Amino acid sequence: MAAPKWIWSVFAALSFFLTIVLNENSIMVCGNNEGDALVVFKLSLLDPNNVLHSWDSTTISPCTWFHIICNQNQQVILLDLGSKNLTGNLVPELGNLQQLQYLVLHQNNIQGSIPAELGNLKNLIELDLYQNNLSGKIPPSLGNLKSLEFLRLNDNHLSGKIPQEVLNLAHLKILNVTNTDLEGKIPSTRPLEDFPLKNMATPSLGIFKFVFPFLNVFLIFFFI
Ligand SMILES: *[C@@H]1O[C@H](CO)[C@@H](O)[C@H](O)[C@H]1NC(C)=O
Ligand SMILES: *[C@@H]1O[C@H](CO)[C@@H](O)[C@H](O)[C@H]1NC(C)=O
Ligand SMILES: *[C@@H]1O[C@H](CO)[C@@H](O)[C@H](O)[C@H]1NC(C)=O
Repeated sequence: MAAPKWIWSVFAALSFFLTIVLNENSIMVCGNNEGDALVVFKLSLLDPNNVLHSWDSTTISPCTWFHIICNQNQQVILLDLGSKNLTGNLVPELGNLQQLQYLVLHQNNIQGSIPAELGNLKNLIELDLYQNNLSGKIPPSLGNLKSLEFLRLNDNHLSGKIPQEVLNLAHLKILNVTNTDLEGKIPSTRPLEDFPLKNMATPSLGIFKFVFPFLNVFLIFFFI
């Protein structure tokens, strides 16, 4: 028995509708603020080893993607793309990852400047950008990262002075700026005479390691 004609009309209408919906989905970014920010970052990168293949903009949340860890509230707390052969730029949208604690991007070929918006990452504990090709100045906004303990910027082309706001960070344990073009002057507020010279890893590089008894903070500065 042949199907009535109206069935074919319904079928045609339905498939037309589905085509539109599916197409729209495939171009739609995931609608999650953090996922959107990460997709913007992905689009600014060249990824020859395809390590970002799981960063699929059609998924509802980025928490299932590789190199990402979320907290119980589905907010990104770790982004680890260290040593992934990535080329490209950092993007201001990374500053939208409000709960991020670890931003680990060392040993790639990321160039351009450090976006001032990274200063919005109020929960950041570790910022590892070392061994890239970053240039420009360290944004003073990084002085807003009150939880920051590890700031490794070594082996880049950063220039200018280390902002006082960054030097003032109370929880900072390690600040490595070796092999950058930063102007190497310890601010006068830091008592140079107090640093112990033992544990100097490579004295030829002029590495100073010193302790500030009044802050109980241990900072490492490197000067070329
Ligand atoms: C890094 O990517 C380049 C292409 O841009 C490729 O030639 C090279 O083999 C990759 N290196 C590693 C260690 O994967
Ligand atoms: C490093 O970045 C500069 C632009 O700031 C670019 O001209 C240079 O080619 C980059 N170096 C490498 C090794 O990619
Ligand atoms: C600082 O960077 C230099 C140069 O890459 C490296 O040799 C040294 O181990 C680093 N030190 C720390 C404490 O990260």
